[in-house]
Amino acid sequence: MSFFDRIYKWLFTSLANQLLITYLVVITIALLAVSMWALVAIRHESMTDLRNSLEVEAINLGLEIDNDLVLDSPKALARIQAAVERRATRLGVAIAVVDRVGRLLADSSPLNMDPVPREGTNLSREKEINEALTGIISNSTRAEPGLLPGSDRNWLYVACPVRSMGETTGVIRVGVPLTEIERRLRKDLIVFLEIILATGFVTILISLGMARRFNKPVREMSALARQISNTGDLSALLPVRRQDEIGELSASFNQMIGRLREQERLRQEFISNASHELKTPTMAIGGVVEALQAGASEDPALRTKFLNSLERLVDRQASLIQDLLDISRLDSGSEKKWHDHIDVARLVQEAVEQIRVQADKKQLNISTQILLDMKESPGRAVVGNSSQLQRAVVNILTNSIKYTPEGGSITVSARLSAGNRVEIRIQDTGSGIEPQDLPHIFERFYRADKARTRETGGTGLGLAIVRDIVVMHNGHVEVESTVGQGSVFVIHLPLRDV
Ligand SMILES: Nc1ncnc2c1ncn2[C@@H]1O[C@H](COP(=O)(O)OP(=O)(O)O)[C@@H](O)[C@H]1O
Ligand SMILES: [Mg+2]
Repeated sequence: MSFFDRIYKWLFTSLANQLLITYLVVITIALLAVSMWALVAIRHESMTDLRNSLEVEAINLGLEIDNDLVLDSPKALARIQAAVERRATRLGVAIAVVDRVGRLLADSSPLNMDPVPREGTNLSREKEINEALTGIISNSTRAEPGLLPGSDRNWLYVACPVRSMGETTGVIRVGVPLTEIERRLRKDLIVFLEIILATGFVTILISLGMARRFNKPVREMSALARQISNTGDLSALLPVRRQDEIGELSASFNQMIGRLREQERLRQEFISNASHELKTPTMAIGGVVEALQAGASEDPALRTKFLNSLERLVDRQASLIQDLLDISRLDSGSEKKWHDHIDVARLVQEAVEQIRVQADKKQLNISTQILLDMKESPGRAVVGNSSQLQRAVVNILTNSIKYTPEGGSITVSARLSAGNRVEIRIQDTGSGIEPQDLPHIFERFYRADKARTRETGGTGLGLAIVRDIVVMHNGHVEVESTVGQGSVFVIHLPLRDV
């Protein structure tokens, strides 16, 4: 693996490292920007100070020599030269004095300072002198060659005109090399760089500490997730020690485990209930078969009786198995893909036809009221699986028949209801449901009156299937019941744009 691959891997396999690098980059850029700004400001400030003090020097010298400049005699020149030498030596600056046309009258040759102009040279071509000759104070900065090759230095020059009776009689130019300022700036730059390095170092230390704090819970979480996916063991939970987003994540993770545990519990319960339900009729069948073998088949009356009960038991077994298959199909979600436009009116009619024979057997009076005019809701329909929904209605109707004594009546109606829904209502004049059973009747295998319902052949799955189907269609089912008077079940189904 190359060096860069290694760096890349180190960076992108750890969130904390990515954060660290981001911090470092941001902090370094910010500090660099501040340092640059500070250096520029310091330089500007120092240059202004220097320029001002050079200007003061030039003006002072001007006051000293203005008369001699006008005189233009050898004696006067000597006095000018003396004044220039004195001030230049005292201040450590280079001073040049030129006459009204820019010819050099006097100059200092102080302290090996460059450059050393020779007397008589015309300096009027130099920018600051040229400008000062017009009567204004001027300055400029430029590199001047040193004595040795490569020893160029930056110089700051300030040139002041000397005026007498409204005329410029000469120019005094004071100059210093900028070596001192530049050295100070370099020193400042080094200090800034040191600060940046130190800050980077502290950032790394803090980030490493933070990284450990972040990484630990995240690692714990992924370890637990891996353990669960490898072994299916849901016994462990994550410790939740923090109030921040990571703590929140751990709490959600635990909630998810809790939910999985609950599902697992329901699954186990379902299997054990289903096995129990299957076992009971199977044993009964075994008993009947044994009795027949033991001689009951000799007696025709007895044989018919046993064969009839055998038929009932096998029917019950078959319908139980059908219910179990339906439940498992609904659970698996494979039924969700249906999107028929459902003709609710027809569906209800067909469901009623399907159970009419059973109802007639018990002399129950069934009336249907279809008040469903889909034209009232144009462009909308119930969407889903038609045969499943019919199965839900039939299940409720079957209960009504089962739990309504002979001569009772069942009313089925369908209509549009408020909130853009379709409402299917099934009302009976049956036994009713005890209030304490009411909240549970949609649970799997729940039967209100165990003894009686077993005799009527119930499995306790019918309403659970109803609820699953209705929920799959984004609807809900309600029940109201009064013991001794009857029950009413209402299926609400949402309409969808089609
Ligand atoms: N129309 C009804 N009248 C009275 N009781 C009902 C009615 N419908 C359902 N129940 C009660 O709800 C329980 C659950 O119904 P269901 O899930 O269909 O199971 P079952 O196989 O017993 O019919 C029934 O055992 C019964 O006690
Ligand atoms: Mg039922």
